[in-house]
Amino acid sequence: MTKLGRLYSKFDSVTLPDDLPYTQVSAWELQFLYLVGRHELSGRGRIVELGSGGGGSTYALAMGLRENPAFDEKTGRLHAYDFFRVGKGTFASEKFFTSGHKPEDDNSFLNDFRGRLEPFLPFLEIHAGDLWQTSDPDDPTPVEFLHIDIAKTARVFRCVSERFLTRLEPGSIVLHQDFAGPRLPWLHHSTGALLPYIEIAGPPIRSTLAFEVTKPIPADVLKRISEDDYTVDEKLALITAVQNRIDRDHTDGIPFKSVLELAKAYVAHYDGQHKRAWSIAKPLTSDEYLSRTRADHFEQLKKAYDTERAAKSRRSPVARFKQLLVRGGKR
Ligand SMILES: C[S@@+](CC[C@H](N)C(=O)[O-])C[C@H]1O[C@@H](n2cnc3c(N)ncnc32)[C@H](O)[C@@H]1O
Repeated sequence: MTKLGRLYSKFDSVTLPDDLPYTQVSAWELQFLYLVGRHELSGRGRIVELGSGGGGSTYALAMGLRENPAFDEKTGRLHAYDFFRVGKGTFASEKFFTSGHKPEDDNSFLNDFRGRLEPFLPFLEIHAGDLWQTSDPDDPTPVEFLHIDIAKTARVFRCVSERFLTRLEPGSIVLHQDFAGPRLPWLHHSTGALLPYIEIAGPPIRSTLAFEVTKPIPADVLKRISEDDYTVDEKLALITAVQNRIDRDHTDGIPFKSVLELAKAYVAHYDGQHKRAWSIAKPLTSDEYLSRTRADHFEQLKKAYDTERAAKSRRSPVARFKQLLVRGGKR
């Protein structure tokens, strides 16, 4: 069993305070963050959270660190990265404000975050702003722990992979919070590329896939991940490799094989292959979980396919001939 695998038996031992900051992650994921902080980390490498939002996940992790005898609050640091403001393209919610909505004249919830994380401020290092600006491209410090709840776009994932995945080493722990998100297939195919060098902890914890790095990750693998240097077919094969390792999540609520199949459709969709995307997605419409939770995804993929088909048929020789006949008839 992996060292992270042992944490699954400890869920019942975790009691988190009722007044935890608002969070978009589930109670299971908060408990797991606590358990990793409490049992697995030392603070000798960087402990990093990418996408702290209103601080719910940060709070659970920080609580674990506080109760961890191996973590020294005087020297160890928890690095929290986020825009800490709402606005177009931030993916942050007004619920991250303590009041639950944005005040008239201020779009930053940084002070709200600080207020709620007050007990842990002495060992919390806050990096506010766009990750591309707030992370240091020249920092070589090994990353001991990485909670990734930020990679909502391929652009941001590139930053995560260039500046953080490159600093993983054997023993490092990674939690991918968005693993149940089919629209973020870079999380899935990059994990496929990392499989020879990692050990998956066990079933995902709700939307979170946890793994430990077990072997040094070759620089060329990291370069290919950062540069998105895989063909569509290669990406699909990498996702299949992950599908072969995971099934339903720990709570039995999320069927990951189906979720990852839909992520494959998004690989094709983002590549402009809408017919292929829909041919992957269509059979999944009968999946109970996906039809209940991802109806908007199917709609998006079908619409792109229909639009492409309509444009193609307008350009077809038969259609153009008919247009000429109509125009000729009007003269
Ligand atoms: C899903 S929320 C995080 C939720 C949080 N972990 C919780 O416990 O509720 C994602 C966060 O990523 C942040 N984010 C997205 N792109 C970012 C970027 N380029 N730089 C900094 N923060 C970013 C958003 O501001 C948002 O707060």
